[in-house]
Amino acid sequence: MRDVIVAGNWKMHTTPADAGDLARTIAARTHVSGVTRVICPPFVSLVAVRDALAETAPDVGVGAQNVHHELQGAYTGEISAPMLVGLATWVIVGHSERRRDAGETDELVGRKLGRAIDAGLRPILCVGERSAQREAGSQDAVVRRQLDGALRDHDAAALRAGGLVIAYEPVWAIGTGRNASGRDAAAMAAAIRDGLAGLGRGWDPDEVPILYGGSVTSANIAEFLAEPSIDGALVGGASLKPDEMAGIVARAGLTAAARGAAG
Ligand code: PGA
Repeated sequence: MRDVIVAGNWKMHTTPADAGDLARTIAARTHVSGVTRVICPPFVSLVAVRDALAETAPDVGVGAQNVHHELQGAYTGEISAPMLVGLATWVIVGHSERRRDAGETDELVGRKLGRAIDAGLRPILCVGERSAQREAGSQDAVVRRQLDGALRDHDAAALRAGGLVIAYEPVWAIGTGRNASGRDAAAMAAAIRDGLAGLGRGWDPDEVPILYGGSVTSANIAEFLAEPSIDGALVGGASLKPDEMAGIVARAGLTAAARGAAG
């Protein structure tokens, strides 16, 4: 049975002065058995979140929101995977905001993914189509291209051992309050698993957790988790709100319990 995962992406919110308290509050409000929880604060708040959670909720994972594709060197302002070791155990790669704002290509995202896995950081690889691509009906082809570009140079066994997680995040749903439907998300999860199978290197796509992301709230999470192919959520705006996270993780706990009972 695949893990049920709720990851919060805090984006460029919180400071080292307030992040620890927020993480502690969220952890206390989301103590639900069977759900893997992850908090991804800004780089500068990783220490505060790590320390706050180590005291009170060591089972909550800490993730970075990005990682550089080189190990070290003359890259002003960048952070490499070895630098994150000890601060984080997860990392988001290929978020659409970075693809958009930092011009990250699929090939570059693939290199980041490799660095993450080599450093023992569990990667959450984000894929998803833009609005015009969905209107043109090319969403399946877009995510397949993103998967192929990011994964083709990696050994399937290493990706499996590294615990690869994929987040399907339609760009038009991120931060817009306009979430995809559960049905659309499930159709895309199927396309993603087909895409993984199509990479053809001994994958068992059914082992790979797929999260939905894009305007997830406590009010709509049930729609996604009602789909057996969806294994949780990557939550942006709502992940800064303890009440919202409490509702989201509580619903994820029902899915985790049902999966546990089934097998
Ligand atoms: P959102 O962001 O929940 O604010 O739409 C999701 C994400 O960017 O991961």
